[in-house]
Amino acid sequence: MPTSQTIAIVLAAGMGTRMRSDTPKVMHRLAGLPLVDHVLAGLSAAGITKATVVLGPEMADHTARFAPHKTVIQKERLGTGHAVKVALDAFDPGESDVLVVYADTPLLTTETINDLLAQKRNAAIAVLGFTPEDPGAYGRLITNGDQVESIVEAADASPDELSVDLCNSGVLVANGRKLSAWVKALKNDNTKGEYYLTHVVALARADDDRCVYTEGEVDELVGINNREDLAVAEGIAQDRYRSAAMAAGVTLTDPASVFLCHDTTFGTDVEVGPFTVFGPGVTVRNHVTIKGFCHFENATVGDRAVVGPYARLRPGAALDDEAQVGNFVEIKNAHIEQGAKVNHLSYVGDARVGKGANIGAGTITANYDGYNKTHTDIGAGASIGSNTVLVAPVKVGDGAITGAGTIVRKDVPANTIAVSEAAQKNREGTADAYRAQQKAVKESKSKDS
Ligand code: UD1
Ligand code: MG
Repeated sequence: MPTSQTIAIVLAAGMGTRMRSDTPKVMHRLAGLPLVDHVLAGLSAAGITKATVVLGPEMADHTARFAPHKTVIQKERLGTGHAVKVALDAFDPGESDVLVVYADTPLLTTETINDLLAQKRNAAIAVLGFTPEDPGAYGRLITNGDQVESIVEAADASPDELSVDLCNSGVLVANGRKLSAWVKALKNDNTKGEYYLTHVVALARADDDRCVYTEGEVDELVGINNREDLAVAEGIAQDRYRSAAMAAGVTLTDPASVFLCHDTTFGTDVEVGPFTVFGPGVTVRNHVTIKGFCHFENATVGDRAVVGPYARLRPGAALDDEAQVGNFVEIKNAHIEQGAKVNHLSYVGDARVGKGANIGAGTITANYDGYNKTHTDIGAGASIGSNTVLVAPVKVGDGAITGAGTIVRKDVPANTIAVSEAAQKNREGTADAYRAQQKAVKESKSKDS
């Protein structure tokens, strides 16, 4: 467990050059949440409430989003050691433990953080190592018994050092007062010309201070430096969220094809079919059936509702209990009240569909005139015929009916049937002659070509 004194420094100022992006690396998202926010959430789950986030100058306008955490700007990016120095210049940690985490390592779990803090108790530094399948560009931990003697960056390592499998995750905890002194003493005489945080281990050993290490799971220590790493981390995060959902009583028919967001909320006995994507802000209550191939974003789904297959719930879609939204239906900023049904090929946007109303196939709420969005209100128990176009703003009263193909341009009072007056003409006995004529046209065209 962290002592009440544990203070975290989150390094988030790197250029993230390898991402090849206009977005700062730490703002790239994993399961819908920026990498740096995953790290902060992990710290707070471990009971660490004081953190200083080191940001690059391009994020100077974004400091408010980190409140109540402190932020410091690392104007010149001179390396991870320099970043920690910039943070420690802003506050005196005294004898508190300082936990350094990298914002590009977002999958770190509470258990591992606590494990590392426990290791630190009888040492000046505890480093979190791991053994990835491919040590690649990670720094290597050079150990001696239970101690780390140094951390060597891959670019500076000898062939012998490169053959070491135990790598540096970037996470370490150190006595704050000593760490402040060591980061001030760092030199940049290495391949990259940077002030490496990792070099504090050698400085500690030179002072005869104890440096211990513990090993964490590979899956939680993946560092994100490029888009491929990001995809690997996304896969790991998705597996975690899927497992948590299933453990909480959600059936995922094909977990691998269901994509969740960090804040997706499920009740119990929800069934989710394959190929379904949950964007941010989705709440699904109890006993809901989501048939496959659906897409959700900022939407809520009430108890016993049935959705899909092939339904899209866009921001502001709110389904009350027992509502039904079927195939090829798009709902946006619309309240579908209890037991109402929108089952086929419809667009319902900026609308209310009253309790128990039925929306026929192909119904469209024409909510946008090119300038403004306007509202459609459909009363309880109304029955909207197939292919009705509701030209908003418009109101259909309780229990009203619209005929198939009606273009509703003015309000329909309650208990009223609305039909569009385009009278149908039947030309009796003309169908055969029409077919013969069309056949002749087709044949004359094929002779010409
Ligand atoms: C670093 C470690 C390496 C470790 C690896 C684990 C050093 C020198 N190397 O390498 O041993 O195996 O992480 O993923 O620490 N940052 C700043 N300011 C800077 C430079 C970096 O805030 O001036 C931040 C970055 O935003 C990032 C973190 O520090 O979150 C790590 O920087 P990065 O450049 O990704 O280091 P790695 O090369 O991955
Ligand atoms: Mg990195």
